[in-house]
Amino acid sequence: MDKNLIQKEYKEKVKSLKYYNQRYYNDNTSEISDSEYDDLKKNIIELEKKYKFLKSTNSPSITIGYKPSKNFKKISHKVPMLSLANAFTKEDLVNFEKKILNFLSKSKNTTISYTAEPKIDGISASLTYLNGKLVYGLSRGDGKEGEDITANLSTIKDIPKIILTKDFPEEIDVRGEVFIQNSDFKALKDNFANPRNAASGSLRQKNPEDTKKIPLKFIAYTFGFVKGLKVNNQYDFLNKLTEWGFKTNPLNRLISGIDNLFINYNEIEKKRADLNFDIDGIVYKVNDFALQNRLGFVANAPRWAIAHKFSSNKGISKILDIDIQIGRTGALTPVAKIKPINIGGVLVSNATLHNEDEINRKDIRIGDTVTVERAGDVIPHILSVDFKKRAKTYKKFIFPNKCPSCGSKTIKEFNLITKKKDAVRRCSSEGYDCEKIAIEKLKHFVSKEAFNIDGFGKKIVENFWKLNLIKFPQDIFSLDYNKIEKLDGWGRLSVQNLRFSITVKKKISLERFIYALGIRHIGFENAKLLSKYFGSFAKFKDLSNNNKYNDLINIDGIGETQVSSIKNFFLNRANLKILHELGKILSISNAVSIKKDGLLINKTFLVTGKLNGISRAEIKSLIEENSGTTVSSVSKKLDYLIIGDNPTKKKVLNAKELKIKIINHDQFLKMLNKTS
Ligand code: IVH
Repeated sequence: MDKNLIQKEYKEKVKSLKYYNQRYYNDNTSEISDSEYDDLKKNIIELEKKYKFLKSTNSPSITIGYKPSKNFKKISHKVPMLSLANAFTKEDLVNFEKKILNFLSKSKNTTISYTAEPKIDGISASLTYLNGKLVYGLSRGDGKEGEDITANLSTIKDIPKIILTKDFPEEIDVRGEVFIQNSDFKALKDNFANPRNAASGSLRQKNPEDTKKIPLKFIAYTFGFVKGLKVNNQYDFLNKLTEWGFKTNPLNRLISGIDNLFINYNEIEKKRADLNFDIDGIVYKVNDFALQNRLGFVANAPRWAIAHKFSSNKGISKILDIDIQIGRTGALTPVAKIKPINIGGVLVSNATLHNEDEINRKDIRIGDTVTVERAGDVIPHILSVDFKKRAKTYKKFIFPNKCPSCGSKTIKEFNLITKKKDAVRRCSSEGYDCEKIAIEKLKHFVSKEAFNIDGFGKKIVENFWKLNLIKFPQDIFSLDYNKIEKLDGWGRLSVQNLRFSITVKKKISLERFIYALGIRHIGFENAKLLSKYFGSFAKFKDLSNNNKYNDLINIDGIGETQVSSIKNFFLNRANLKILHELGKILSISNAVSIKKDGLLINKTFLVTGKLNGISRAEIKSLIEENSGTTVSSVSKKLDYLIIGDNPTKKKVLNAKELKIKIINHDQFLKMLNKTS
C-alpha cells in the first residue's frame, strides 16, 4: 500500500477521534456509540502497530481524552488517571492472562485471582483526602491534569466529606465513577441523550446549585496517590472503601481463572437490562497489589487490568439494496439488504424498513450509511441515516406502484377504523393470481393453527409451488406422490409419511377450516366466532348465494372491517372454486356448541411448553368446548397449569409457589375421560 495513502487514512482517523473526544469531554455529547468509538481507537492503534512510521506524540494511544474545559481551574493528578485496554472475546481474555503469566514468568497452570467489577458508564473522578478531609475533587481531564470540580462533587451525597475511621490513609486519591441512575434519568430525558451525558453535564455546571438539582451517585473502585494504605489486595481495598463510608458496586466479585470470569460475564450481561445503572462491560484487575506493581503499565493502561466490553446491539453498515417482500395479505414490506455486520454476535444482512412511509420519513436510500439496531428476537431495523456520508448520486427510493411479483397495481387502502389511508401498500391482485401471495397463502393453509400438516414446512410449499405440484389448497390433497418420490431429498419413507400426514388432516373442525382459508382480518378467534355462527360448512359456503353479509355484523366481536373482508373473499371466483373443491375432499365437522355444564366447568387452565400432537389453539378449543376457561398468566385465579416439553421455568415456579396443580397432557385428557 502507498505510504501517503496510509498516512492520509491514519490522519483522518486521528482527526475524527479528536473531534469525538472534544465533543465528549467538552460538550458532553457523543455522536457515535461507545463501540464505534472503541473500534475507531482500535483501528488507529492497529495501524500504528503495522506501520511504525505513523506514530506521533499526538497518538491517541499516548494521549487520553481531551483537554479539560476552560471553565474550571486545572490541577495535576499526583498519579495519572489511566485508561484500560479492552477485551471483546474470550480469546482476548486468554491472551490477557497469557501476557501476565509471561511477564511474571509463571507457568501456564498458575491461578491468578481477579476482582471482577461491573464497569459503570459514567464520568470518572478523583477525590483527594488529607487527614480524613476531602480537600479537592478533580475530573479526569486529559489523564495528567483534571478540572477542579470540588464544589460540584461536594454536592453528591455518596461522597464522604470527612472520614474519621482509624485506618483511613493519611493521604489518598479515591477514584470512582459519578453517574446517574436510570430511574432518575427518566425525569431528565428531555434534556440529555443518555444517563452518561446527564451526569457529565451536571458535573460541569458552573453553579454547584445546579449540580445539586440532579441526583448524582458515586461508586468508588480504585486509588491514585496513597500514603499509609494498609491493605495488600484490590478485593480487601474494595471492602475497606465501604468501611470508610464509600459506596462500591454490589456486583463486585473475587474470581479465579478465565473460565470463571467468562461465566460471571455472561451472568451479569443477562442482568444488565434490569440494573438501575448503565454498565458497558466488566473490569478485571489482578487482585494482588504486589503483582500489580510488578506488572506495571504499557502506554496509558495497566498490564494488570482490562475492560471486558459487552457487545453492542447497534452497528453501522451500508444499504446495498432495497428488496420488496410480499406477504399473504398482499402487503409490500421493504427490506434493506445491508453489508453484513456482526451485531452482538449475530451476522445481520437484512433490516426491515417497515413500510413506504417509514422510508420516506427517514429518507432512506440505496447506498446510504446507516445505524442498524438488533434488540432481542426482534427483526433488525434501521435507526438512522448518516446524511454526511450520502453521495449526490444516491437517488430517492421510489416505492413500486406495481407488484414486483405479479405486476398488478399496488394500492394504499382506506382504513375504516382510523379513517385514514394505510401506511402499508398492497398488491391489488386477487390472491392466487400473484405468485408470492399464493405461496404465502399455502404456507398459512398448512401451518400449525390451521391444517397443521406434519412435515409440510415453508420450504416444501415453495418447492412444490415452483414444481407446479400445488397452486391451490385443494392440490395438497391430490399430490403426485410418484413425482415427489423422485425429487432430491425425498424417498419412499418420507413420501409415505407425508401422505399419511395429509390424509389424517382431511378431517377438520369448521373453525380451523375457516382460519386456514386465510381471509384477511379473520384470525383464529374470529374464525371461531364465524364457526359458531354458521354451525356447518354448508351454511358457511351458502353465504355466496344468499349474500347475507350484513347479518354478520350482529356477531359479537365481528366488525365492519371483517364483514367487508369476508364479502371480498366470497366475491372472488377462485375462492369459491377452492371452497367447492375442498368441500368435496374434506370432512369438515360441524361447530360444537359449547356446553355450559361441561367437565371443566369453573376451571381455569394455562398451557406452557410444547405438547405432543396438539397445538395451543386445539387445546384451547377443547377446554372451551368443555366449559373451561383459559388464562394467559399464572395467578391465584389459575386452577391447572398444563406443562409440555421445555415449559417456561418462571411459570412453573410461580405455580408451585401458589400451590397450583401442575398436570401433563395425559392427566389433562384424563379429566375429559380421554386418552391421547
Ligand atoms: S479502574 C488503571 N475500575 O473505565 C485503572 N475503572 O477505561 C483505571 N471504570 O476511566 C480505572 N468502572 O471511568 C476502573 N471498576 C472500575 C471501573 C472503571 C468504570 C471506568 C473509568 C475509567 C474507564 C477506563
